[in-house]
Amino acid sequence: MSKKNDDFFVEKKPWSEVKDQLLGCYLKPYVTKILHTRKPLVYVDCFAGKGKFGDGEPGSPLIALEIMQECLASTKIKDVRIHSAFIDLNYADDLRTNLRDYHDVSIVSGAYEDNIDKLLQNKTTCNVFLYIDPYGIKALDCLKFDTFANGQFNTIELLINMNSFGFIREACRVMEAEFKVDDSNFFEDLVEYDPTELNATKESFEALNRIAGGDYWQEIITKYKSGEIDCYKAEECFSEKYCRRLSRNYAYVLNMPIRIKQNQHPKYRMIHATNHPDGCVLMADNICNRWELLKDIQSRGQLTLFQEDFNNQIIDEFTIKERVIEHFSQCNTWISLTEAEAIFYVKFGVICKSGEIAKVLKTLEKDERLEVIRDPSSTEKGKSSTFMAEGHGKTVRVKWVR
Ligand SMILES: C[S@@+](CC[C@H](N)C(=O)[O-])C[C@H]1O[C@@H](n2cnc3c(N)ncnc32)[C@H](O)[C@@H]1O
Repeated sequence: MSKKNDDFFVEKKPWSEVKDQLLGCYLKPYVTKILHTRKPLVYVDCFAGKGKFGDGEPGSPLIALEIMQECLASTKIKDVRIHSAFIDLNYADDLRTNLRDYHDVSIVSGAYEDNIDKLLQNKTTCNVFLYIDPYGIKALDCLKFDTFANGQFNTIELLINMNSFGFIREACRVMEAEFKVDDSNFFEDLVEYDPTELNATKESFEALNRIAGGDYWQEIITKYKSGEIDCYKAEECFSEKYCRRLSRNYAYVLNMPIRIKQNQHPKYRMIHATNHPDGCVLMADNICNRWELLKDIQSRGQLTLFQEDFNNQIIDEFTIKERVIEHFSQCNTWISLTEAEAIFYVKFGVICKSGEIAKVLKTLEKDERLEVIRDPSSTEKGKSSTFMAEGHGKTVRVKWVR
C-alpha cells in the first residue's frame, strides 16, 4: 500500500456507503431547514479525500455539493448563501479536478488541524457544519471541538467518524495491555488506512487525553487489563463516555454504531453533535432510516418480525411506550415537542423514529395524561388541529398532567 493510502479510493467499500448515506440523507433536510435562518451556511469537509472514487462513485464532497445545489434550486428563500470548503492533506489536485463544476467552493491543500481556525475566521454569524471523516484518530482533538461550540457561530454541527476500536487499540498500546479480539475475522471487512500508532510515553498519554477530552479512558483500559471487561465492552464504554464528554459543549449528541454484518460488534461510530434540538431529531430519524436500509443489506432481505434498534436490541411497542411515559412524565412545565424528543434520544439512544414517539403521545393526549398546545390550533376548515410534529410553520408544546 502506498504511503498516501491511494487504494482507499480505488472503489467505494460498503462501510463508506453507510457513511455517505448517513451524511447525504441528513444534509438534505438539514440544509433546507438551515436556509430558513437566512444566515449563510458554511459547510466544511475536513478530510475530503479525492471527491470521487476510481469506480466513478461520488465521495463525500460530490455527495454534499449535489445536495446543496438541489436545495438552493428548490428553496423559496431569497439571497441565501452556501459556502463550502474541502480540506485534504494529499488530494487537493484531485479535488480541484473533480469539483470544478461547482461554484463558491474553496479547496484547501493541507492538514485540517492547521487550517480549520483560519477557515472559520470571520464566519461568526454563519451556520457551520463540519464533516470529520479521518482515517485514524490522531487529528480528532476534542478540545478543538469544544472551542467551535463557544457561541461564535449562529449554529454549529459536527458529524464525526470515530474509529473507537482504533482508540482502544492505541490506548492498550500506551498502557501496555495486550489488545485481543476473539473474532479472527473482526478486521477482515474493515481495512484500516493509516492507523495511528502510539507507544507508552508521556506524550502518547497526552495525545490520547486530547483526543478523548480527558483521562477517563485510562480507567476503562485498567478494567480491560484486569479482565473485568472485554475489548467490545471497552469500546462501548469509551464511546458512551466520549459522547458524554462532547455533551459538555453540545447539548445533543447521538451515536450510530456501524456494523458491516448483522449481529456483529460495531466497527466504528458515527457521532453527531449539535446544540439544536431540530438537528438532533432530524438525525435520529435519519439514523433509523439508515439502520433499516443497512439491516436490509445485512440480512439480504430476510424479514425480521420485531423492530430492532441499531444495537440489535429488540424494541417492541411496549418498551417504546414505557420509555415515552418515563421521559414525558418528567415534563412538568411547557416544553417544545422537538426539544423534549431530542432529550429523549440523548437519554435512551435512537430506539425509534420520532413518528413512533408521536403515536404514543397522541394516545396519552387522548387519555388526558398529556396537555398539548398547537399553533395553529385549528385547521383551515375550522377543526381542531391534531398534528404531533413541528416545522413548516407549526409548533407543538406539551406538558405532563398525570
Ligand atoms: C477516510 S478518507 C476521506 C474520505 C471522504 N470523506 C470520502 O467519503 O470520499 C480520509 C482523508 O483524509 C486525508 N487526510 C489525512 N490526514 C489529514 C489531515 N491531517 N488533514 C486533512 N486531511 C487529511 C487523506 O488524504 C484522506 O483523503
